Amino acid sequence: MARRNILTKEEPGLYKKCRPVTDFNARLHQLLDDMADTLEPENGVGLAAPQVGVLRRAVIVLETNVPEGEDEYLIELVNPEIIESSGEQYGAEGCLSVPGEYGMVRRPMNVKVRAQDRDGNFFEVEGTGLTARCFCHEIDHLDGVVFTSKCERMLSEEELESGKLEEE
Ligand code: NI
Repeated sequence: MARRNILTKEEPGLYKKCRPVTDFNARLHQLLDDMADTLEPENGVGLAAPQVGVLRRAVIVLETNVPEGEDEYLIELVNPEIIESSGEQYGAEGCLSVPGEYGMVRRPMNVKVRAQDRDGNFFEVEGTGLTARCFCHEIDHLDGVVFTSKCERMLSEEELESGKLEEE
């Protein structure tokens, strides 16, 4: 168990483009394990490597669309790319690097991502709803994009008090 410090929006590294992962080694595995340990107590649904100060293309996303009675699970995406997207959703979005602030962001309703796993094997995964939003949000982080630059408006405190919101 190793939690890492989550960098916040003042950190210049959050606005840099991350380099691809080229070595699928123990160091990458440790990073992904630590990211999971870091995300879990925050009750977040996703985390990108640059949020813990590593400028490499790796993210984790919690798949919350699971059948009743089954556990949510983390998806590790190394060098992810969105290869298909469809539909649209407009909703509140937050970020562990921007604590306490939420804004309305337009995202696709469905996305398909091609990525590598921690051992370098390629795979494809589809997400819908919150999972699609999270794939987009985390992959944006790898290009130095924080949601506040994409959001159409930030939410007021009254709106925050009334709604159920998730942080990514
Ligand atoms: Ni974020």
